[in-house]
Amino acid sequence: MLIKSSDELEGMKRVSSFVATTLQQMTAFAKPGMSTYELDQFGGELFKKAGAKSAPYVSYGFPGWTCISVNQEIAHGLPSKKTILKEGDLVNIDVSASLHGFFADNGGSFVLGNDVHNFGPLVEASKRILKKAIEGITVDSKVNLVGRTIHREAQKAGFTVIHDLCGHGVGRSLHEEPSEIPNYFDRWNRKRFRKNLVVAVETFISTKSKHFETLDDGWTLVGNKGGFVAQHEHTLVITEDGPMVLTGENGYW
Ligand code: CO
Ligand code: CO
Repeated sequence: MLIKSSDELEGMKRVSSFVATTLQQMTAFAKPGMSTYELDQFGGELFKKAGAKSAPYVSYGFPGWTCISVNQEIAHGLPSKKTILKEGDLVNIDVSASLHGFFADNGGSFVLGNDVHNFGPLVEASKRILKKAIEGITVDSKVNLVGRTIHREAQKAGFTVIHDLCGHGVGRSLHEEPSEIPNYFDRWNRKRFRKNLVVAVETFISTKSKHFETLDDGWTLVGNKGGFVAQHEHTLVITEDGPMVLTGENGYW
């Protein structure tokens, strides 16, 4: 959406603050031995208390409050009583919500407890690359520069990117124009970021795969060649003073 009034900015700030603090609290609550269902239910209580709705549920009928993807799962992981978190797991929580008609989207990967599998470098690269990509956004800058930065920085760190998952416009619905902010340099994408546009920029930094496949549950995505993926995502508004990150309360920066 393009923000046209201070009320709209307030609405975006409120829902962004909600998703950011929910992501932060869920990340802190996650413990080895806990199922991803239990973790999602904890998040669900925060949604209920705030009067917020799960954006993937209202938009696509996703069966959960949040997406929780563990280890080989790269996105849209279904919260499940069968998925029990273990020490050293690579966990991604993606919280997107609607509150009073505004939508925000916020995600982050982290290592649960001790980093026994050495996922740390992947997670740190994803966080650092997201920051760098967002800092490069200005009014009228090209959308494809985001992907150029993300892909280039991923390669420098010894990783690649998932090419078919991307950031997107957000605000009055979960996914809106610009519908694709890719993680790679798409020379044919001639779109530019306009002033007051709200977008969700997200990384998909990958150890191996460049594309995703969908598991039989119809939701969970994994890499087409295996490996692991770290994702970090912020919702932001593009202003004359640069990007205004609305989901900074998650503590990822
Ligand atoms: Co998201
Ligand atoms: Co998103």
